[in-house]
Amino acid sequence: MDYESIKKIYALYSDVYDVIFKRFFYPRIRSAIQSMEIHPGDRILDIGVGTGLSLPLYPRHCKVVGIDLSMDMLEQAQKKVERLGLSHITLMAMDAMNLFFNDNSFDKVFISHVVSVVPDPVRTLEEAKRVCKRQGDIVIVNHFQSENRWFAKIEEFLNPICKRIGWRSDISLKGILEASGLRVERNYKLKKIDLWRIVFATNDK
Ligand SMILES: C[S@@+](CC[C@H](N)C(=O)[O-])C[C@H]1O[C@@H](n2cnc3c(N)ncnc32)[C@H](O)[C@@H]1O
Repeated sequence: MDYESIKKIYALYSDVYDVIFKRFFYPRIRSAIQSMEIHPGDRILDIGVGTGLSLPLYPRHCKVVGIDLSMDMLEQAQKKVERLGLSHITLMAMDAMNLFFNDNSFDKVFISHVVSVVPDPVRTLEEAKRVCKRQGDIVIVNHFQSENRWFAKIEEFLNPICKRIGWRSDISLKGILEASGLRVERNYKLKKIDLWRIVFATNDK
């Protein structure tokens, strides 16, 4: 998807995103963040933070920067920050594929339900690696194309419809991991049959 389509679609979602998606997305976001072993003073980057479903889950002893392309989604996230007094969290408008941060700025990077939305997932993961410290954690929550070839065909068939509603259904986990050179530590589903995966990777650079 191109930038303008992403901005238009997520502007439309911003007011209703939590009502529609929280029940599907929140359990994996919670599981991932609770497993991240966040230490006091850790600096965390949340790429494509959206309306900030993840934000109340970060412990107050770390510093979090949430970035997103969509001002409308960020406005919702900012409301959460203010309502909940999350003073350890900063939000910024930024493109995941061109991060303004210096190399090695963060201990951990979290990317949930974003890899299949950005125009270039591999470029996004390369940027995540660049700004994450060596041996830091890069944690991805996303839908990936099924390894079963029949389901994969269905997902390819559905891809044009999915793109119209804001994401792609044909992203191969193996493909993006190979292209970005991330080393996977853990890769699991919350339930036996689940559309989304949680991937813990280490940044070897
Ligand atoms: C499905 S939402 C996920 C939001 C949140 N991470 C969650 O799990 O609920 C995808 C988000 O990615 C953002 N996004 C898409 N492309 C982006 C880009 N190039 N740079 C930054 N954010 C982007 C969208 O604006 C949207 O807020």
